[in-house]
Amino acid sequence: MAKQKIANQWAIVTGASKGLGYAYCQELFEKGYHVIAVARNCESVEELAKKYPNQKVKLLNLDLSKIANVYQLAQETKNENVTCLINNAGYGVWGYFKDSDLEQELNMIDLDIKALHILTKLFVQRFSENGVGRVINVGSLAAFTPGPVFASYYAAKAYVWSLGVAVNTELKKTKSPVRVITVCPGPLKTDFWNRSSNQSDANYHSTVKVMSTQKYAHKSLNKALKVKKKNYLITGTTNKFVKKLTKYVPQSWVLTSVYNYQRKRKEK
Ligand SMILES: NC(=O)c1ccc[n+]([C@@H]2O[C@H](COP(=O)([O-])OP(=O)(O)OC[C@H]3O[C@@H](n4cnc5c(N)ncnc54)[C@H](OP(=O)(O)O)[C@@H]3O)[C@@H](O)[C@H]2O)c1
Repeated sequence: MAKQKIANQWAIVTGASKGLGYAYCQELFEKGYHVIAVARNCESVEELAKKYPNQKVKLLNLDLSKIANVYQLAQETKNENVTCLINNAGYGVWGYFKDSDLEQELNMIDLDIKALHILTKLFVQRFSENGVGRVINVGSLAAFTPGPVFASYYAAKAYVWSLGVAVNTELKKTKSPVRVITVCPGPLKTDFWNRSSNQSDANYHSTVKVMSTQKYAHKSLNKALKVKKKNYLITGTTNKFVKKLTKYVPQSWVLTSVYNYQRKRKEK
């Protein structure tokens, strides 16, 4: 029944080749969407799509930190009935700010902020014209506090959260059927940490309980496709607790905790 409802609808997922984006692709196929997968190398999604012979897949191998490619993505999908865009591609640059690589940080800003900003605008416009559609932006719990030793990444996710909440408020106030929902995962066991710490095979370590990536994708997507009033979503008891701490505990305590958590990560 649910699958019939979304027949002939396309969803775009950026950062689709692995991690959370790949898990979102699987969830979208399960729901009956056709999927446009975007990453620098999307081969893995071609393999995944074979399990869903009734749905179509389109692979776009694009580096979205190059702004021309972001516009190309919008252009190449304009004839499809896209009703969902998941802005998921992203990474961080870990380390003390005085030492971390400026070129990497600027590239991260191009991907995590600029590409997401452009796609959010272009698809809010397209969805508004069509009278249907949802942008799901992948933020992070990192959006809710400055992040010493991971400063530019936390700042980037604060931008993602702030933009999404403001735009979604505009949409609700103007009675638009379109939504921009920001999902804010806590730590997930993906390749994110390897790239963000410039390691190829780091021993993943987190002192915070980690939800399985597929479970997170399942729960957050189900909610993000349905919510009417909420601007952003935090999924999982531990993540909700951590978010509450950032609100009710003195900021100096939060900053020291994040500093201690982040500075110890590379050695583990
Ligand atoms: N893992 C966590 O702990 C965590 C927590 C909170 C939020 N998040 C957020 O979740 C999102 C997904 O991260 P993840 O954990 O799934 O990391 P991941 O496993 O490293 O996946 C990142 C995805 O982004 C794609 N990508 C990277 N650079 C790209 C570029 N320049 N152009 C296009 N695609 C690019 C990668 O594919 P290619 O390499 O093929 O391009 C890959 O598909 C990110 O926005 C991240 O900030 C992650």
